[in-house]
Amino acid sequence: MSSTFISHAADHPAPTAFPWIADGLALGGDYSPEQWPDEVWAEDVALMREAGVNSVNLGVFSWGLLEVANGEFDWGWLDRAMDLLHGAGIGVNLATPTAAPPMWLLQAHPEIATVDADGRRTGPGGRLSWSPSSATFRRYALRMVRALAERYAEHPALRMWHVSNEVGNENGWTYDDETVAAWRVWLEEHYGDVAALNAAWGSAFWGHHYTAFSQVGGPRHSRTSHNPGMLLDFERFTSQALLGHVIAEREVLREVTPNVPITTNFMVQHSPGVDDYRHWTGEVDLVANDHYTMGPDPRRASELIFSAARTRGLAEGRPWLLIEHSTGAVNWQGVNRAKGPGELRLDSLSHVAGGADGTLFFQWRASTAGAEQFHSAIVPHAGADSTIFRDVTALGADLRSLAPIRGSRVEAAQVALVFDHESSAAWRSGPKPTTLFRDIDLPVRLVEALSERGVAVDVVPAQADLRGYRAVLVPTVYLAQDGLAESLRTAAEAGASVLVSYLSGIVDPSNRVIPGGYPGAFRELLGVRVDEFFPLFEHERVRLDDGAEADLWTERVALDGAEARIRLDSGDLAGTPALTRHAVGAGAAWYLATRPERAGLERILDELLAEAGVAPVAPADRGLVLARRRHEGSASYLFAVNRTEQPLGLQASGTDLLTGENVDGRVEVPARGIRVIQESAR
Ligand code: GLA
Repeated sequence: MSSTFISHAADHPAPTAFPWIADGLALGGDYSPEQWPDEVWAEDVALMREAGVNSVNLGVFSWGLLEVANGEFDWGWLDRAMDLLHGAGIGVNLATPTAAPPMWLLQAHPEIATVDADGRRTGPGGRLSWSPSSATFRRYALRMVRALAERYAEHPALRMWHVSNEVGNENGWTYDDETVAAWRVWLEEHYGDVAALNAAWGSAFWGHHYTAFSQVGGPRHSRTSHNPGMLLDFERFTSQALLGHVIAEREVLREVTPNVPITTNFMVQHSPGVDDYRHWTGEVDLVANDHYTMGPDPRRASELIFSAARTRGLAEGRPWLLIEHSTGAVNWQGVNRAKGPGELRLDSLSHVAGGADGTLFFQWRASTAGAEQFHSAIVPHAGADSTIFRDVTALGADLRSLAPIRGSRVEAAQVALVFDHESSAAWRSGPKPTTLFRDIDLPVRLVEALSERGVAVDVVPAQADLRGYRAVLVPTVYLAQDGLAESLRTAAEAGASVLVSYLSGIVDPSNRVIPGGYPGAFRELLGVRVDEFFPLFEHERVRLDDGAEADLWTERVALDGAEARIRLDSGDLAGTPALTRHAVGAGAAWYLATRPERAGLERILDELLAEAGVAPVAPADRGLVLARRRHEGSASYLFAVNRTEQPLGLQASGTDLLTGENVDGRVEVPARGIRVIQESAR
C-alpha cells in the first residue's frame, strides 16, 4: 500500500524471531501504578506473583505524568515501576503514552483535537482526543516516544513496545481542517484526476460534479446522506491516517531499539470501527487484540470464537496475543453484567484455543477514581479476597500447565468463512434497504452452528487463498472485492461447496451497485438472478417449504441454471426459491436468500457439510467446541470447551495438560469445563 501517510516508513527490518513476551503463555494486564501510593505497589507485585502474572502493559495513558510540562520529563515513578517489575520477573510491554495527550498540550494547542461532523471540537478531559492528521500532535507525540524509547532502551524489563492504545477508537472519525486537507491529498494520490473520482463516486447524482479536488469536503454534517462512494473512501483514508500515526511511532521505536518487538492493540471485534486491520497486520511484529464479550448477547461465546478466528486470520495463522479482555463487568454496556461461574476461565482458554499465546486483562487493579471506576480488574475493589482474584490465580495455574503449547498454530480448518471489513464499511455508508441488518449476525450464527458440531472454521479476508477448503461460507459479504468471485469459482470447480447468502456481492469496490440483477458479483457462479429485495419488518416471519421459519430478509429469486432446494411458503413471494444449488465443476455454489431460524439454518449447514465431506476436529458429543493446535511436525493439542450445563464427551487419547490425567477412548468434559489433551502421536 502506498500513500503519503505511510510512505515515510523507513526500512528498519522487523525482528524476525517470534517476540516471546513471557516465559510461558502470557498472563497479566494493564498496570497503572501511577494511580496508587507506593505501599500499594509492593502489594501489587506480591499479588502478581501469587496469581502467576508474567506480563503487564505499563504506562498506557501516562503522558501527562511523564512529560509534566512542555519538554520537562519526570521519569522517577516509571523508573521505579520498571525496576520493581523486573525484580519480580515480570516482563513489561511498555506503552507509548500517546493515547491521552497531557493537559498542557491541549491547552497550548487546542487545534490538535478531533472535530465531529457537526463541527464541535473535542474538549480536554477524555482520551484519544487527537486528530491523526495533526502535524502539531505528531511532533509532540514523537518527541515523547523518542524520549521514552531512549530512557528505557536497555531496561531489562522491556519485552515489547505497545504503541499508543486502541488507535481509532475514540478518534476514529474526525473532520478537522487538517484532516480534510490530508483527505484531499489522499484522493488526488488515489484517483490521479478528478474525472476518475467523479466516475467512481457517480457524482452526477444530485449534480455533485467536482472540477477540483479542493471542492471535496469531508463528510461533515449534511441534512441528507452523503455519497456512499465518498463515505467508503473517507473510511479508507481514515484507517490509513490512523495507521500512519502508528507507523510514525513505530519508526522512532525501531530506530532507537531495533530489536524490541512492537505491537499495538487492535479492536477486531469493533465492527463499526474504522481501522481496516488487513492493512495494519504487516506493520506490527505481533498481532494483539482487545476483546470484550457483550453481556446481553446470548451468542457471546460464539462471537468470541468468531473474533478469535478473525484475529488469527489477520495474523495469517500465526499465534497472536489477547492483550486486553475483562475479568468481569465492563462499564460501557448499559447494564454491565459480571461474568457467570467459570466464564472468565472459559473465555480466556477459548482465546488460547483460537491461537492466542496469552491472555491479558484490562486492568490489574480496579481504579477507585476516573471514568472507569466501575470496570472490573484482576484485583477488584474488594481486593484479593475475591472470586475474581481467585479465578485469575487458578487461570495462572492453567496457563502454566499449558506452557508447552506456546508457539503452536491452530490447525487449518476445512471450512473458511469470508469476512470483509470494507463490506461492513460499505453497508454503513448511507441509507440501505433495512436498518435491521448487522454485519456479524449471520457470520456468528454460522460459527455457532459449526462449533456446536465440533467443526473448526477459519475466518479469512476476501483476498485469502480459498483453495484447499472443502466448504467456503460467504455470509452477507455486501461488497465484492476484486477477485473474490473468481476465487470462489476456483474453489467450487476444485470440489468445494460454496455457500453465499443474501446481501452478498451487491456493490463493487467503489461502492456502486453492480447492475443487471442481484447479487451482481456472484450471479453467474450461483446461477440465480434477483430482481427485487423484500426485507421483512421487525418480528415479521415467513414459512419455508421445509417447515422452517425465516425472518429479516427475503427477495425475489429467479433460477438461471441453479435448482431450488427450499422455497418460500408464505408471504408475497410464496413459491420463489429461498435456497438454491448450482453445480460448478467438481463442487457447487449454494445461495441462501433468507435468514432461517436456528434449526432451519442447521439443516442447511448439515447438508452442505455432508456434501463437502467436512469432518469435526474429533468425534464428540454435539455442543462441545473443539480446536487443535499443533507444533509443526510434532505435538498436537486438542481443546474441548464445554459451555453447557451437562458433561459432554469426546474421543481422544493422550494426556490432559490441565489435570495430568492420561486418557484413551471416551473422555468426559465437565459442565462449564475444558480439557486440553496433548495427543498421543496421530
Ligand atoms: C479498551 C481500552 C482500555 C479500557 C477498556 C475498558 O479496551 O483499551 O483502556 O478503556 O477498553 O473496557
